[in-house]
Amino acid sequence: MAGVRVASDKALMALVVAVLVMCGGGLAAAASNLVPAVYVFGDSTLDVGMNGPLPLPYGIDLPDESLPTRVSNGFNLADYISRELGFENSPPAYESLKPNTSHQILRGFGGVSYASGGSGILNTTRIMNNSISLAEQIDLFAATKLQMTQYARGKGSVAALDERLAESLFLISAGGNDFFRHIQSLCWRPCLPTFRANLLSNFTNHVQTLYGLGARRFGIVGVPPVGCVPLLRKITLGGGCLDYANNIVREFNTLVAEMMANFSTDPEPHGMMYSVGSAFNVLMNFTNDPVANGFTVVNSACCGDGRFGAGTFCVKNATVCENRADHLYWDFAHSTQATAEKGAAIIFAAPVEEGFAAPINFQQLVSPSHGSGGFSSA
Ligand SMILES: *[C@@H]1O[C@H](CO)[C@@H](O)[C@H](O)[C@H]1NC(C)=O
Ligand SMILES: *[C@@H]1O[C@H](CO)[C@@H](O)[C@H](O)[C@H]1NC(C)=O
Ligand SMILES: *[C@@H]1O[C@H](CO)[C@@H](O)[C@H](O)[C@H]1NC(C)=O
Ligand SMILES: *[C@@H]1O[C@H](CO)[C@@H](O)[C@H](O)[C@H]1NC(C)=O
Ligand SMILES: *[C@@H]1O[C@H](CO)[C@@H](O)[C@H](O)[C@H]1NC(C)=O
Ligand SMILES: *[C@@H]1O[C@H](CO)[C@@H](O)[C@H](O)[C@H]1NC(C)=O
Ligand SMILES: *[C@@H]1O[C@H](CO)[C@@H](O)[C@H](O)[C@H]1NC(C)=O
Repeated sequence: MAGVRVASDKALMALVVAVLVMCGGGLAAAASNLVPAVYVFGDSTLDVGMNGPLPLPYGIDLPDESLPTRVSNGFNLADYISRELGFENSPPAYESLKPNTSHQILRGFGGVSYASGGSGILNTTRIMNNSISLAEQIDLFAATKLQMTQYARGKGSVAALDERLAESLFLISAGGNDFFRHIQSLCWRPCLPTFRANLLSNFTNHVQTLYGLGARRFGIVGVPPVGCVPLLRKITLGGGCLDYANNIVREFNTLVAEMMANFSTDPEPHGMMYSVGSAFNVLMNFTNDPVANGFTVVNSACCGDGRFGAGTFCVKNATVCENRADHLYWDFAHSTQATAEKGAAIIFAAPVEEGFAAPINFQQLVSPSHGSGGFSSA
């Protein structure tokens, strides 16, 4: 009998330990993480499977088949920014947190990605038919927060949840697809003023909605130089970047920085902090100075055929380059894993004087760490 008791005590202990580990993993940031959680919003630059699986050659360099495919050969910007913060990779896609079990609700505490390829700042920008707009992504975060709040209320720790969200990083990268749509519309100068005003007012609205939901640390990645992607180079005479696209993107990025500065000095957004990372300057730097940045091909897609590898999509039978680490672009419009890794490191830590983030870099945004927000398993 005594033997049986010992065994069942051991089993009970094992269960208790397992539950603590599980809850600890779901609720408390590991001591090495710089923020309790990351919540990710935006487009294909950050998407980790929200739109469902992508077929090979996408994900060809992912080390593990169980990882959802990014719009890349491997990992993306969300993964590398999350790694800089001490996480293993990007938080999981909201879609992968279904079905709605309590364990998965708990995972909301560890961060969630809502980023969806083909989405834009405007509701009407929907490049893929399953793209989820930024407004819808924020609605999904509101639903996640509701679930977390219900859980926290049960534990009497709603204040700790608010503190936890305030300390978490809200990572946003959106706008590239809106500019693609604008370019495709072929209504350039005449449509630009309204387009730009709508883009800015909608983006402002999104940031303010997130603030209203408890976000306080905004890591915004500006719009990349969309005029330089293989798809648009293909239509310029000399194969250079499409200057019109780059110029209007640059102007918009300046407006976003100004909007964030305005918003953060607004008397109401108390305790808000932000950094605007310049994907534009990072990618232009790589493009203008490939060798110094370890690239050999900065104008053609690795995966695809035709002019600049952008005559076809990156499909099953497409040509795929061998030297993927030397290429800036993976397909007609998206960066390689190598680009994402180097870009994340620069946006995270390059000194502000170098112009890759303002008014502070991401490292300054997340430091000093204020702990786990109170949801420890202790
Ligand atoms: C998930 O759970 C919440 C609250 O527990 C509930 O309101 C919601 O309907 C559920 N969603 C699904 C898809 O089951
Ligand atoms: C969505 O796109 C896929 C592939 O591009 C296509 O097969 C499907 O019919 C589309 N669905 C709708 C509702 O348009
Ligand atoms: C965008 O869509 C959301 C629903 O996801 C809606 O609440 C919002 O009013 C829409 N915004 C505009 C400007 O149409
Ligand atoms: C957002 O963009 C739409 C057009 O797509 C526009 O009607 C609306 O006024 C814009 N602003 C806001 C705050 O929603
Ligand atoms: C920032 O605030 C200034 C002063 O109120 C205003 O003139 C400007 O238009 C604002 N900029 C943006 C992008 O909101
Ligand atoms: C790239 O950035 C580095 C660091 O700011 C700078 O030294 C270098 O001149 C830049 N190169 C180009 C081509 O912009
Ligand atoms: C891939 O297959 C499609 C049709 O299945 C064909 O049109 C295209 O030319 C093929 N591409 C290559 C590079 O063979």
